[in-house]
Amino acid sequence: MAKNNYIISLENIDTTYQGDKIPVINNINLKIEYGEFVSIIGSNGAGKTTLLETINGLLTYSKGLGLIFNKEIMENKYEIRKKIGYVIQNFDIDSNAPFLCKDVVMSGKTGKIGSFRFYSKEDWDNIWYSMSLVGMIDFANRPIGKLSGGEFQKILISRALAQKPDLLLLDEPLSNLDFSSRKQIEKLLNRLNKKDHITILMVSHDLSFIPSGCKRIIVMHKGKIISDGNKNEIINSKFIENFFKNEMK
Ligand SMILES: Nc1ncnc2c1ncn2[C@@H]1O[C@H](COP(=O)(O)OP(=O)(O)O)[C@@H](O)[C@H]1O
Ligand SMILES: [Mg+2]
Repeated sequence: MAKNNYIISLENIDTTYQGDKIPVINNINLKIEYGEFVSIIGSNGAGKTTLLETINGLLTYSKGLGLIFNKEIMENKYEIRKKIGYVIQNFDIDSNAPFLCKDVVMSGKTGKIGSFRFYSKEDWDNIWYSMSLVGMIDFANRPIGKLSGGEFQKILISRALAQKPDLLLLDEPLSNLDFSSRKQIEKLLNRLNKKDHITILMVSHDLSFIPSGCKRIIVMHKGKIISDGNKNEIINSKFIENFFKNEMK
């Protein structure tokens, strides 16, 4: 098996949903180095979420070879997932949910959510670590359903940080946020990448939602990667501009 030093290495990957004949993502070739901050953009249905779920082994790829942390994904999916923080798309919560922020954050580590749980010193260390990274330590004992959109997104990111991941996968974390919350999350992601050395792969459907720390953009369309390169080159590319103009029609 070809080995390498990339954090993500996908070669000719297809992923097909059960019962489908045609792969939803098709011949994906993607190599990401440790420490990069990369955004994937593309319109709805392009295959962005499918790609993230193929990377963390929630979906099984049907062709090609996928290595994460230099390990084949499906053979090592439980081990791999321990080092991946995943923030899913459109996570809704009942405004009366009986959980406090600390319960939600700890569920990122334990996989389970429970209120009135007894937290050990180690758990508290973890809650403090994860919540202080997103600047939300004062929210530990607040009900999760009462937060603003931006605060809630920070708690979801904090939850993903509870397992001290090397790789953070974020699915449209900036959608549904007002301008000032979006700027706060962008700053937070820049810092997690630069200061805490977490590799970030972030999905967005909007070319204008790209944090300054992100230097590379991948464009997906109909299950394929159609462009991959330096952020400024992609943003200034006439091809991409025309492509998105046509997409929006
Ligand atoms: N669980 C599923 N079963 C079958 N098809 C799916 C499933 N999830 C997504 N799809 C299809 O796969 C394609 C890509 O979806 P998705 O990866 O969610 O795109 P994006 O995140 O870019 O909006 C869409 O055509 C969608 O309908
Ligand atoms: Mg999606």
